[in-house]
Amino acid sequence: MKRILLIISGSIAAYKGLEIIRRGLERGFEFTTILTAGGQQFITPLSAASLSGNPCYTELFSLTDETQMGHIRLSREHDVILVAPASADMLAKMVSGRCDDLASTVLLATDKPVMVAPAMNHKMWEHEATQRNIQQLIADHIHIIQPDSGSMACGETGTGRMAEVATILDYIEAHFTANKPLAGLKALVTAGPTFEPIDPVRFIGNRSSGKQGFAVAQTLADAGADVTLISGPVHLPTPMGVKRVDVQTADDMLAACASHLPADIFVGAAAVADWKPTLSSEQKIKKQSPLASFDLTLVANPDILSHIAHLKVGRPQLVVGFAAETENLIPFATEKLTRKGCDWIIANDVSAGCVFGQDDNTITLITPDETQSFGIMSKQAVATLLTEKIADYFSPSSPLPVGEG
Ligand code: C5P
Repeated sequence: MKRILLIISGSIAAYKGLEIIRRGLERGFEFTTILTAGGQQFITPLSAASLSGNPCYTELFSLTDETQMGHIRLSREHDVILVAPASADMLAKMVSGRCDDLASTVLLATDKPVMVAPAMNHKMWEHEATQRNIQQLIADHIHIIQPDSGSMACGETGTGRMAEVATILDYIEAHFTANKPLAGLKALVTAGPTFEPIDPVRFIGNRSSGKQGFAVAQTLADAGADVTLISGPVHLPTPMGVKRVDVQTADDMLAACASHLPADIFVGAAAVADWKPTLSSEQKIKKQSPLASFDLTLVANPDILSHIAHLKVGRPQLVVGFAAETENLIPFATEKLTRKGCDWIIANDVSAGCVFGQDDNTITLITPDETQSFGIMSKQAVATLLTEKIADYFSPSSPLPVGEG
C-alpha cells in the first residue's frame, strides 16, 4: 500500500482534496494530510482526518508533533508528497525554498518524490511569474500534474482548473508502476573533483562541479537502479533516491568504490586528480621568505576507472568512463577506452573553458563497435541519453550487448 502525504493549500479546489482522499482510498492508497492556513479557509482538518482515518496536521510548532521532530518524520515516512490543490502562492514558495509553515517545511525536508497539481485562475496560471516558477520546479525534479482548461469557480474560462481527481490518482499509480528498466541492478557513480591536500589549508583540485555525475546518478535511480554516488567536494544536493558517500581524495574515492562493490554498472564521471603531493604536511607550511619558491613533488593517484575495469573478480558488467579532452578528442578518447579497459567512454571537448561547471555538454559515445557524436545538450539530457543506452544494454530483448561481441 502506498502512503501519500497530501498537502491541501488555499484554493477553491481544496474540496477536491477531500475527493482525492475518498477515491484514493478506494484504489488502496493511504493518506495523511497537511492543511495550510489557506486550505483551512476552505475545508476543515476534521473533514480531512475523518475521511483519511489519519491525523490532519496544520501547525509547524505544535508541541506533540515537534518534540519528535514531526516535520522531518512526516516528510520522510510517506512514499510520495502530493500538493493538491497547489495555489500560485504555494508554487512560488516552493521555488524560493521558503519554509515558514508546516507544509513548506516538509516540502523542503523531504527526500521523497513531490507531485503538484496546480489550481488557480487562468490569468494567474498564464502569468510569466507562474510559468517561470513551473519551469524552475520541473528543473528541481518536482512532478507537475498539468491543470485542465474549462470554466472556473470565478466564472471565467481558461487553463488553471485542477486536473481531475482520477487523472491525479492515475498519475500517482503510473509513477509507482512505471517501467523501471534498471530495477534490480546496482549502479556505482563517481562525481565531482578530488582534493589532494598539500597541508591542512591548501590542496590540489580542479574545476569539476559534479553536475554531470549527479545527473547520471539521478537518471539511473529514476530508471529503477539502486544507485550509490561517490562524490568529491561539490555544492550539489543529493539526487532523490540516491545513496551518497562524500570523499575528498582519490584514495578515499577508490576505497569508497571498493567498499560499495559489487555493482552491475560503474560510471566514472569524477574528475579525479591525476597527482597528489608526495607528502601532505600536518601543519600549515610557512613561507620561508616572501619571494622564496617552493617545490612540490607529486606522485600519481590510483586510476579508479582503470582499477575497476581491470578487476578479475567482481568487475561490474558495464564500466563507463568519461574523457575530457582539449584536442584530438576521438583518437585520445578511443585510446583511453582501450588503455583503461572500460566498455564505453563518453568523450567531451573541454577546450576553451566549456563544460566544467557549465550546464551543457557536447559528447561522443565511443564503444568498441561504434562512435556516435551528439550536438550540444544539457548535462541532464546527456544523463538521460546514457541511461537509455544502459537500459538498452541490459534489456533482455536487446541483441548482443555492446562490448561483448
Ligand atoms: O585519464 P582521464 O582523467 O582523462 O580519464 C577520465 C576518466 O577516468 C573518467 O571517467 C574519470 O572518472 C576516470 N579517472 C579515474 N581515476 C583517475 C583518473 C581518471 O577514475 N585517477
